[in-house]
Amino acid sequence: MKIRKAVFPVAGLGTRFLPATKSMPKEMLPLIDKPLIQYVVEEAVAAGIEQIIFVTGRTKRAIEDYFDKDYRLETQLRDSGKTELLKMVNAITDMVEVCYVRQKEALGLGHAVLTAKRLVGDEPFAVLLGDDIIEAPRSCIGQLIEKYEKYRCTILGIEQVPMEQISSYGCVAGTLVEPRTYKVSDLVEKPPVNEAPSDMAIIGRYVLTPEIFEIIEKTKPGRGGEIQLTDALRELERRQAIYACQFEGKRYDCGDKLEYLKATVEMALKHPQFGKPFGEFIASLPK
Ligand code: G1P
Repeated sequence: MKIRKAVFPVAGLGTRFLPATKSMPKEMLPLIDKPLIQYVVEEAVAAGIEQIIFVTGRTKRAIEDYFDKDYRLETQLRDSGKTELLKMVNAITDMVEVCYVRQKEALGLGHAVLTAKRLVGDEPFAVLLGDDIIEAPRSCIGQLIEKYEKYRCTILGIEQVPMEQISSYGCVAGTLVEPRTYKVSDLVEKPPVNEAPSDMAIIGRYVLTPEIFEIIEKTKPGRGGEIQLTDALRELERRQAIYACQFEGKRYDCGDKLEYLKATVEMALKHPQFGKPFGEFIASLPK
């Protein structure tokens, strides 16, 4: 079955990015001139996703407004002949079909995914976490979908990280079956370094089979007292094969202030309009 739907859990409070996120969703922080969430939506659309399901929470209204039509703005741009800006604004709302469901309590990533159960239905689907911005020659979730088309089962996006960072991630162990592809044999959410089965971290990209929902329903709170998606995946692995794909591309954890700054600088340096003058500005800074 084709992967048509993508779940975007965006209910998180963004505490790592306070105070900027006190009254604004972290997903709306701008990277150059677009909010973070738009990069991730564009990645999904490039992979052929037709419907995006945002799992939202309080204080996330700005995301709904962003993907909705703004007739007042459109009229003003049309009346003042700003056709290029009008096209840009319309492109955001025309990009893809979106729908929203509220996660009423912050009970964890597994719970957020479960909240989308009725909207997803009985079909495989993608999950994209908005903190991870991935610059890649081909859409990162598209790379996972290609693997899904080959293996017809759950596919996790993974990246090798320095061992001392593994406790910040879900960790997978497995056997290499082809370049960049592992058959998963173990999964642990945020293990202490000395208990981690590998240095392979799950990043915020998944293709999941719908069997995950009934497993999450029975998953008890795990690390941090939250219902963890990784714990449900561990159970899923006992019933179905899971593969992990070491994606091609560069990931920035834009929920982290320093990584966000690095993403801003590196992407600005490559930007078609600002790249050259920005590069000159950086070069002119006192050492
Ligand atoms: C979540 C998942 C974790 C994964 C990470 C990727 O953790 O629980 O397994 O490695 O996303 O970003 P969080 O970063 O929400 O704590």
